[in-house]
Amino acid sequence: MNEPPQLPDGSFAAWNRDRLAAARRGAAECGDVWQLEPGVCVAAAAGPCEAVLHRAQDFLKPSSPLFPPLKRAGGAPAPEEHAHARAVRMRGLRPQAVAARTGEIASGTARCADQWPTDRDVEILPLVRPVLAETGVRYLFSEDAPALLPFAWQLFEAREVLVRPSRWVWPRWVPTPARRFRTRQQAAFTSALRAVVRQRRSSGQLGDDVLGQMLRPSSRYGLLPEEVIFDTLPGITVATFETPSRAAGWILLHLARYPWAADRIAAEAALLPADPATTTSTHLDSLRYTQALVREVLRLHPPSWLLTRRASRQAQLGGYTIDAGSTVLVCPYTAHRDARQYPEPDRFQPERWLGDSGSPASPGVFLAFGTGPHGCEGAALAMAMLTLLTAQTARRYRLSEPPGPEPGYRVTTFEGLATAGLRLRAVGGDP
Ligand code: HEM
Repeated sequence: MNEPPQLPDGSFAAWNRDRLAAARRGAAECGDVWQLEPGVCVAAAAGPCEAVLHRAQDFLKPSSPLFPPLKRAGGAPAPEEHAHARAVRMRGLRPQAVAARTGEIASGTARCADQWPTDRDVEILPLVRPVLAETGVRYLFSEDAPALLPFAWQLFEAREVLVRPSRWVWPRWVPTPARRFRTRQQAAFTSALRAVVRQRRSSGQLGDDVLGQMLRPSSRYGLLPEEVIFDTLPGITVATFETPSRAAGWILLHLARYPWAADRIAAEAALLPADPATTTSTHLDSLRYTQALVREVLRLHPPSWLLTRRASRQAQLGGYTIDAGSTVLVCPYTAHRDARQYPEPDRFQPERWLGDSGSPASPGVFLAFGTGPHGCEGAALAMAMLTLLTAQTARRYRLSEPPGPEPGYRVTTFEGLATAGLRLRAVGGDP
């Protein structure tokens, strides 16, 4: 037996009390790989995290329980189908495709600054989420977005109900009210999407957006079965705005806490065109400090701070033996706060992402978007949305937290790291 070490006074109890603190203690006291309880271990440092995420055959990604396939009894798509679906989606999500649509994205994110009331403290997540939902859904479905947005929103609501912590964890097959609600919303979204696909096919205009790319054959795999489109798009549609909204909460909080950084972003953003629709990828690329700040916030507060894998067979990790069937929790949060990767790791320092000439730099392993075969498909889109939203906000407003000794928000760690209830006030308002 060569099992990773456990916290001396019981890891699981510490974990249930405060998961972030326990993750940090585990990394500090037990090392790069540690055991939370028998059969559950944590990859805490960059090396083991990358190894797990890259060795996708040894460490399987469990299928998402949020939006399981509606029709097929077989459950998750087969690996070949997954690779095909990913390849065709990526044609619409890769950096060049995102760059070509910078103006549309900038018009979408600009609505956040346009709608911000300046006479009071405003709750941030409900302010940014609808803006990012409209921007993300438009990115996927272009002019068909208005028909799908209400259904996308309902999918998000269903997700919120599903992930709410509850006292009982029911087996996946139990049709709880939350799961029945989710299935109804998923069916409604799919039926609206089916009508859009039918219309596009009959008109012969498949579109150049992500849906259009999924409807076109790939030279390697041929045409993607339509059921795969309907099975995968609910999750991806919610992904376009759910995690980016959580990230935006952290970023706007940092603009409020670090006025010197906000000033530097405002100076950079002054060069953006007055009409956001004319923003180009050259403008976006010139927002170097803003991009550095977004990365630094994602380093310190990765919204997907803990990723789950299951060992398909016995495997070695960081010098320890991981039994087949064990759960491995990959922790970008502790990997990003490791002084071997980032000097003074707890310090907020956007400059670490800039080289001597102000060009982008990669100071350490960055896992906010994961890596390997299941790495984030929407990383380029998310970076564009968040960079533009940040620049447009800082150009127009100075943000501040409500006065008082206590933070006005709760850090939540279930289903992502978020600033629940965060309120900020904006001062300024020149367009
Ligand atoms: C700040 C925003 C975002 C963050 C921090 C983020 C983070 C991540 C992470 C860490 C993973 C890897 C999960 C794992 O390995 O278990 C992932 C996967 C994924 N992300 Fe994102 N994401 C963001 C935005 C987006 C957007 C805008 C999209 C829209 C297309 C998207 C679509 C996906 C998809 C489809 C996967 C699954 C890939 C697979 O399993 O093969 N994400 N994301």
